[in-house]
Amino acid sequence: MTSPITLAAHLVRRFFGHLRATPLSPGEQDLVADALSPELAQLFHRQSPPDQRHAFDVARRVRSALPTDDAAFSAALLHDVGKAVAAIGPIARSLATVFDALRIPMPAHWRSYRNHGAIGADALTAAGAPTLAVVFARHHPGPAPEGIDPDVWNALVAADNV
Ligand SMILES: [Fe+2]
Repeated sequence: MTSPITLAAHLVRRFFGHLRATPLSPGEQDLVADALSPELAQLFHRQSPPDQRHAFDVARRVRSALPTDDAAFSAALLHDVGKAVAAIGPIARSLATVFDALRIPMPAHWRSYRNHGAIGADALTAAGAPTLAVVFARHHPGPAPEGIDPDVWNALVAADNV
């Protein structure tokens, strides 16, 4: 299990990142449109503006680490689309993370937030997403599943954990 200090630092960083997030610029939106099919772009745009910013920043870091890997770029853009289902704010997200860590029962929509990986992976499968995007949405931030290049996986996880 994550240590309480690591968890607290992560929550504080994520909370202020959410508050400071700026919407994607037109140029950034063009990069998203170039990378994703219309169905997948629709899932991307269902996310809140701060979640779109987070996903885009992860994708940008992945592009620096793996400049020619378009599948990794797309997987980064799409990895948190399941969070749109729960649609809860930054304070509830932090509380849901703490409740989950402490195994405290929580409301159903908080539970959806904590299950966003599986929810997103199912939505991505239905929208015809590439395998890496589906698998990364479902299993991040865990270890690389069988059949996935660990270097690509580790670059994705590192880019998500900044
Ligand atoms: Fe993420």
